[in-house]
Amino acid sequence: MTKVIKNGTIVTADLTYKADVLIEGGVITQIGPDLKGDEVLDATGCYVMPGGIDPHTHLEMPFMGTYSSDDFESGTRAGLAGGSTMVVDFALPNPGESLLDALKRWDNKSTRANCDYSFHMAVTWWGEQVFEDMQTVIQQRGINTFKHFMAYKGALMVNDDEMYASFQRLAELGGIAMVHAENGDVVAELSAKLLAEGNTGPEAHAYSRPPQVEGEATNRAIMIADMAGVPLYVVHTSCEESHEAIRRARMQGKRVWGEPLIQHLTLDDSEYMHPDWDHAARRVMSPPFRNKQHQNSLWNGLQSGSLSVVATDHCAFTSEQKRFGVGDFTKIPNGTGGLEDRMPMLWTHGVNTGRLTPNEFVAVTSTNIAKILNCYPKKGAVLVGADADLVVWDPEKSKTITADSQQSAIDYNVFEGQDVKGLPRYTLTRGQVAVMDGEIKTQEGHGKFVEREPNTVVNKALSTWKELTAPRPVERTGIPATGV
Ligand code: URP
Ligand code: ZN
Ligand code: ZN
Ligand code: ZN
Repeated sequence: MTKVIKNGTIVTADLTYKADVLIEGGVITQIGPDLKGDEVLDATGCYVMPGGIDPHTHLEMPFMGTYSSDDFESGTRAGLAGGSTMVVDFALPNPGESLLDALKRWDNKSTRANCDYSFHMAVTWWGEQVFEDMQTVIQQRGINTFKHFMAYKGALMVNDDEMYASFQRLAELGGIAMVHAENGDVVAELSAKLLAEGNTGPEAHAYSRPPQVEGEATNRAIMIADMAGVPLYVVHTSCEESHEAIRRARMQGKRVWGEPLIQHLTLDDSEYMHPDWDHAARRVMSPPFRNKQHQNSLWNGLQSGSLSVVATDHCAFTSEQKRFGVGDFTKIPNGTGGLEDRMPMLWTHGVNTGRLTPNEFVAVTSTNIAKILNCYPKKGAVLVGADADLVVWDPEKSKTITADSQQSAIDYNVFEGQDVKGLPRYTLTRGQVAVMDGEIKTQEGHGKFVEREPNTVVNKALSTWKELTAPRPVERTGIPATGV
């Protein structure tokens, strides 16, 4: 049984051209004019693009005394509805738990996925066991990315000595270090002070995490990664201070990538001043939304290439869960949704405004991600042999975002009321049509785990640099007598 996508314009990260796409056995088998197949999907007036990859999600994640409310079923359904065909979720070990045991829990949850997925591993504590497990995770489980929380003191946070030890191990094994860059010590101090002064509302969440805490941590992580000789991926880059550090590092030839979120690109900190407590609390996430200047910095980064990808950090909590924090903003579960809206929102505010070309859109929502995470061209490509993870994108199709019509399990949407223009006509996951003209036809359990090997070429570049600065004892002709 073959499928053919006909009459569309293929848009990849570097090319735009008219051609049909033939699919068989879940992969692309032919690209060219006038192709024939058993089933025809009409793409007249549409772009045929690699399906989106969301490199940052938290599905059914235990966090702040609860679990995030979208699981692998509803989360991937939401992603597919919006044109994303792969998610990369974070497996989180409990303190003292082996990385492999944490992965077992994530393996169990992810059997319900409607589209393909992969995992990043979080390093939430440090010890001999983690040191050993890292090798198995990288070499046997095909996971090459490890996140370190520099925030959430007393919970997920790791200190600099732990981070440096972990980064060195990753350098040795060919992994990539990731950081949640916020200075957790300063955030804890600011939070305690704000609470003591009677600032208990959701707006205080933003006051407790100013751009400086993010800029400081990003700079620190870059320097530690540089000393360890490991590539660094900075998740949820939200402000100019952090972007500046990434920009500078990249100009110095360091392998550093920045990941702005669709929320930070399109929503600002005025949301926290809303008179309705629920409205503000629903937008509490870390880092918080920033002002327009920071937003412009992020858009500039995407346009110039100093920021590489756009994610969601999808971590959805219901209004009821958010209300754990009434009277104490530090207890509001941190996180917002976005899986269904990332692609339409970025198209609307990026491509329709002229900030991004369609090719750049593909790069930051899919291809760059697949390349950095090392699953290209299986994912992120429209090429013969690549998985048929595709979105047939109708640039004229529009809607208003509402919680009532969303796939996510929560009762609100942070983009509520926003008009978007540019939506999927079809979304295909390994050749299977999951979305057809707005109709959801997902299949629970269709998703498969995507293995990602270490990118030894990137790490080789860094280890060459390391050799140049390796300590060498100096042969000396004169050594003074010891003592006084
Ligand atoms: O507020 C956020 N971002 N919640 C999810 C966990 C994280 O820090 O990525
Ligand atoms: Zn984070
Ligand atoms: Zn509201
Ligand atoms: Zn996150």
